[in-house]
Order: sequence, then structure tokens, then C-alpha cells
Amino acid sequence: MISADLKGKRALVTGGASGIGLATVEMLLNAGARVAINDLKTSENLNKQVARLTQLGCEVYAAPGDVSNSDDVNEMVRIAAEAMGGIDYLVNNAATPGTKDMIPASDLDSQDDAFWEKLVSVNLVGPFRCIRAALPYLKESKGAIVNVASVAAMGGGCSSTTYATTKAGLVSMTRELAKGLAPQIRVNAVAPGWVKSSGWDCSWNDQEAEAAAQELIPLQRIGEPKDYAEPIFYLCAGGHYITGQTLIVDGGLMA
Ligand SMILES: NC(=O)c1ccc[n+]([C@@H]2O[C@H](COP(=O)([O-])OP(=O)(O)OC[C@H]3O[C@@H](n4cnc5c(N)ncnc54)[C@H](O)[C@@H]3O)[C@@H](O)[C@H]2O)c1
Repeated sequence: MISADLKGKRALVTGGASGIGLATVEMLLNAGARVAINDLKTSENLNKQVARLTQLGCEVYAAPGDVSNSDDVNEMVRIAAEAMGGIDYLVNNAATPGTKDMIPASDLDSQDDAFWEKLVSVNLVGPFRCIRAALPYLKESKGAIVNVASVAAMGGGCSSTTYATTKAGLVSMTRELAKGLAPQIRVNAVAPGWVKSSGWDCSWNDQEAEAAAQELIPLQRIGEPKDYAEPIFYLCAGGHYITGQTLIVDGGLMA
């Protein structure tokens, strides 16, 4: 694992109470940063994780809210910035597949307007809302943004065409805002491949499915949340001459 001295730095991680978001929160805290964790107000994990990490001596704050709601986003950014005295890093990690089952690309009927509107609002407009709300703080700190996309954006397979399209939009937004917010703020993305031990565990608990999936991955294992947290951490704390990029992190799957 890479490390850095992030004492004095302040991070806001959306969807940070589980999976890749939580692993990112833990890495940032371990490096000495203060972290505000955003997650849904209904998330049981949010208060549980904040209590657990506070007990470990970390400076961590809850910033609840739904990224698909502008009022919630403005309020959670305000809470985070006030608690930490500003924001240096914004990690736009919150997203939803909107379905527990895979919807084949040929099945258009299962992707109705309400499904599209939800996924676009959470996965695509959500990160934009968070960036817009956090902008004054990020400008002041000359900070960095990392968006969590997916290999689905590049045709790597996923739960639905709708989901893939929202993530492709996020890759595009990353490039556009990298130009729009330079030179003060860097904007990059990480595109994870398959993930084990996150809230969306799919069928990797089934040993046969996991073995079949591993066959397809050159590095021969399904990624853990910390495998994705590390490059997110790097694009926040390092990579000072990198902006507008989407780093594919998938054990070689797309290669
Ligand atoms: N799990 C995968 O297979 C996979 C693959 C590629 C990319 N990703 C991406 O990685 C990121 C993290 O996924 P994960 O696997 O760690 O999932 P996860 O379910 O473990 O974590 C996502 C968190 O986001 C929160 N969340 C959901 N909707 C929200 C909203 N509207 N507002 C605020 N918080 C919200 C959830 O409550 C949850 O705590 C997502 O952007 C996802 O699209 C996941």
C-alpha cells in the first residue's frame, strides 16, 4: 500500500459507509487526513462506521444526504466543510445499479423512464451536484476530485445499459471539468472492474462463479475495495501533473 502524510488535509467521500468508499475513507484517515463520510440518511452503516472510526481516534464526521437531491447535497457539503474547516479532496463514489439482477442489453422494457431518471440523477448528476456545491472550498484549497466510474463505461459489462451510460457520462464529465476547473483543481476518475466484498456483491460468494470470473482476469482474482481505494488515494494525494484521466483498475480484465 502506498502512503502519504495527509495531516491537515480534509476529504469528503460520498457513499463512504460501505465498499470502495469506506476503504478510501480508511486509507485517508490512516494517512492523517480528516474525513467527512457522506451516505444516505437511511444508511445504518453511516453512524456505525463514524462511531467505530471515532473510537479508533480518527477525526471523522457524518455528512448524510442523498446525492440525487440538491438540497441534501448543499447541506452535506456545508456540514463537511464547517466540521473540517474546508475541503481538499472530493471523492464522488456514491452510485446505484438500481437493480439486483443483471438486465440484458437486449431488454429495453425493463429500463423504463423512472429507472433512467433515478440512475442518471444518482450516478451522473449526483457527482456534478457535489462538485458544484464543493467548488468554493476546492478552489480555495487547490484541491482534487476523483470520480468513481466503472469499466462498464468502456463496454466492460455491467447490470444495465442505463448504468453503463451513466458511467460513460461520468468519464466525459471528468475530462470536461478537468479543463473547466484547471489550473486550481485536478479532476480524475477511477474505473473499477469487478468488486468483491462491497454492497453489490453480485454472485462472487458462489465459488463456481468466482472461479469462472477469475479465469477472465489476468491477475486471477476479483478486486477488493482496497484495490480501488489505493488509486483513488493516489489521484487525491499525488499525481499532481495528472488531470482529466480515467484510470482503469480491473486486474487486467479490459486488457
Ligand atoms: N461493485 C461493483 O461491482 C462496481 C464495479 C464498478 C464500479 N463500481 C462503482 O464503485 C462505487 C462504489 O460501489 P461499491 O461496490 O463500493 O458499492 P457499495 O454499495 O458498497 O457502496 C455504495 C454506497 O453508496 C451509498 N449510496 C447509494 N446511493 C446513494 C445516494 N443517492 N446518495 C448517497 N449515498 C448513496 C450506499 O448507501 C452505499 O453505502 C460506485 O460508484 C459504483 O458504481 C462498483
